[in-house]
Amino acid sequence: MTPDLLEEGARRAEAYQAREPAGRTESGGRAAGFSHRATPGEVDTTHGRILYLEDVSVSFDGFKAIKGLSLDIAPGELRCIIGPNGAGKTTMMDIITGKTRPDEGTVFFGSTIDLLRHTEPEIAQMGIGRKFQKPTVFEQLTVFENLELALKTGKGVRSSMFFRLDSGQGDRLAEVLHTIHLESGVRRMAGNLSHGQKQWLEIGMLLMQDPKLLLLDEPVAGMTDEETARTAELFLELKGQHSLMVVEHDMGFIKCISDIVTVLHEGSVLAQGPLEQVQNDERVIEVYLGR
Ligand SMILES: Nc1ncnc2c1ncn2[C@@H]1O[C@H](COP(=O)(O)OP(=O)(O)OP(=O)(O)O)[C@@H](O)[C@H]1O
Ligand SMILES: [Mg+2]
Repeated sequence: MTPDLLEEGARRAEAYQAREPAGRTESGGRAAGFSHRATPGEVDTTHGRILYLEDVSVSFDGFKAIKGLSLDIAPGELRCIIGPNGAGKTTMMDIITGKTRPDEGTVFFGSTIDLLRHTEPEIAQMGIGRKFQKPTVFEQLTVFENLELALKTGKGVRSSMFFRLDSGQGDRLAEVLHTIHLESGVRRMAGNLSHGQKQWLEIGMLLMQDPKLLLLDEPVAGMTDEETARTAELFLELKGQHSLMVVEHDMGFIKCISDIVTVLHEGSVLAQGPLEQVQNDERVIEVYLGR
């Protein structure tokens, strides 16, 4: 081999080493992304979106509950979703979490994970946590045991039987207890907590799994004003570390936490923008907020 060829080879090898990580295109996409099977912890947000829905539709017995719905959420964003009863807010969450399959459309987690190719448990494992309206904590267990149990879900029976918290998990549990304001109630039976505390505990259980995206359906329904204010603080703390999609009818709460608000109506986006803007939108006033 001639010296200039050697030199050229060395240059190429250097350029090769300096490339983007394997599989990444310049724009952050992944060439084989469509059939890519995700592993936990791997969500490509280089396109600036953690969640992406395009032209999603679903019908129930001929009734179109979701109609050409398109929406995306940035990493770390706290997005509020409002809209009248029956607008499709819960159905949208059912679609994102794999509970309901849409008839048409695209639903991506990051730019590479096609959620329509995954089952509900897989989607939860990949880092999408969901909180239903009604608290679903284990009433006969303590706060501590509930949080500990959250780490075991998804593990097999055998491994969960021999499950012991390691020090990292212990630290995480302490951190979550602090975040959800239940440090002093750690040994209390979950069944004896107030409604608001049960809701926080359930959010804590989701946090134990360190979700990248949290979907919260009417989290402050039934809470006292004080609990609602604390929940607003909690969500503002979580924002940035996690992405959040929050469905609520409580406009006072929305006002405290909102950045961008999306208004759903009859299964698609009616308006979107800062709260003040959507509140002054004639169409939103007409179908939801009233005069
Ligand atoms: N599994 C289902 N089978 C039949 N119809 C359904 C199903 N799920 C939802 N729907 C219908 O789809 C529409 C949207 O319902 P959805 O629960 O998503 O509304 P929402 O925006 O969450 O309302 P709310 O504010 O009252 O919670 C409603 O008309 C509802 O009756
Ligand atoms: Mg609903």
